[in-house]
Amino acid sequence: MGKTQYFTATSIDGFIADQDNSLDWLFQADANGESAGGQQYRAFFEQVGAIAAGSTTYEWVLEHEQMLEKPEKWPYHGTPCWIFTHRQLPAVPGADITFVHGDVQAVHQQMAAAAGDRNIWLVGGGDLVGQFADHGLLDEIMLSVAPATLGGGAPLLPRTLLPGELALTGCRADGPFACLTYAVRVRRGDDPLCAS
Ligand SMILES: NC(=O)c1ccc[n+]([C@@H]2O[C@H](COP(=O)([O-])OP(=O)(O)OC[C@H]3O[C@@H](n4cnc5c(N)ncnc54)[C@H](OP(=O)(O)O)[C@@H]3O)[C@@H](O)[C@H]2O)c1
Repeated sequence: MGKTQYFTATSIDGFIADQDNSLDWLFQADANGESAGGQQYRAFFEQVGAIAAGSTTYEWVLEHEQMLEKPEKWPYHGTPCWIFTHRQLPAVPGADITFVHGDVQAVHQQMAAAAGDRNIWLVGGGDLVGQFADHGLLDEIMLSVAPATLGGGAPLLPRTLLPGELALTGCRADGPFACLTYAVRVRRGDDPLCAS
């Protein structure tokens, strides 16, 4: 079974969108195209077998990319997506999208079955990822930290995960971004990371 990963860009002060749900600050960060982000994203995405996102994130993609009018632009064709919402939202024509609500555990089982040996990508937002973490279903956090502070907005991960629960496993510069990877230590006695 693959990993369940939260892969996202964030501001220095821990927001993944500003108070207007805008990502302009993120696009500005790499305006000069100095990062190898696209290449790294492709390598990451090749290993993804299932995707989950909350409704704000989904609606941002619908609106920003005019996805209902241009469904061929849907970036995840061939990869099943689970969108969490209590509402009835339009599906992108031809996309493999399942709308779900409530407990993330059962959905995670479906996602793991679909993903097989590949990874599960939790796109966000932060509270949805927190719901997976609450159930010990988050294995890895992969961050591209942009050189920006926003002072408010959509939180990266509104949960308490203390140093004993997170291990830094990767740290490198990519153009203007700091790329950080953390393993999330599961809270089980049999986990080797918890042995010391
Ligand atoms: N920086 C980045 O790389 C990055 C990555 C991802 C997202 N983003 C942005 O960050 C923002 C995230 O927005 P957000 O914080 O509002 O998070 P979100 O997870 O995208 O949306 C939250 C909504 O998802 C639904 N939801 C969450 N958990 C649910 C559950 N268990 N059952 C049913 N529905 C559930 C609820 O919507 P309903 O009202 O529909 O029930 C909730 O209001 C967006 O603007 C997005 O574009 C940025």
